[in-house]
Amino acid sequence: MTHRPPGRLARVASAMALAALLSPTLSQAGEQEDRLRTRALASTCAHCHGTDGRAVQGQPLVHLAGLPQDYILTQLMAFRSGQRPATIMHQITKGYSLEQLETLAKYFAAQK
Ligand code: HEC
Repeated sequence: MTHRPPGRLARVASAMALAALLSPTLSQAGEQEDRLRTRALASTCAHCHGTDGRAVQGQPLVHLAGLPQDYILTQLMAFRSGQRPATIMHQITKGYSLEQLETLAKYFAAQK
């Protein structure tokens, strides 16, 4: 009998085995990437609201860490629509998608 290359079934089986082996690693890498992306997004607020939304005591900065998620998102949307008058936030919020504002509200609410 002559040597034959592995059949289609064998190739599919080994591809599935490889996928099963890699998928936990891939999903971990995805989560890590999401976390980094969220932190990078949140760092754009750090100038004025402190690292992770923790304003420095005695500074005239608005503290965001630990505020309720709904409250943060409602304020961001109100700034964006002009419903809540602001000196700067009405401009800043226009630069973010709704999804990004939701991510930010969730992130800052989760900070202690
Ligand atoms: C250049 C400074 C600056 C930056 C950058 C900035 N903010 Fe603000 N933020 C303010 C100021 C000032 C206010 C008060 C409202 C106003 O006058 O614009 C405020 C108010 C807020 C409020 C309302 C807080 C409350 O207690 O009602 C939220 C929520 C907020 N900012 C979120 C953010 C987020 C999220 C980012 C990043 C995308 C961000 N801010 C970036 C200056 C800034």
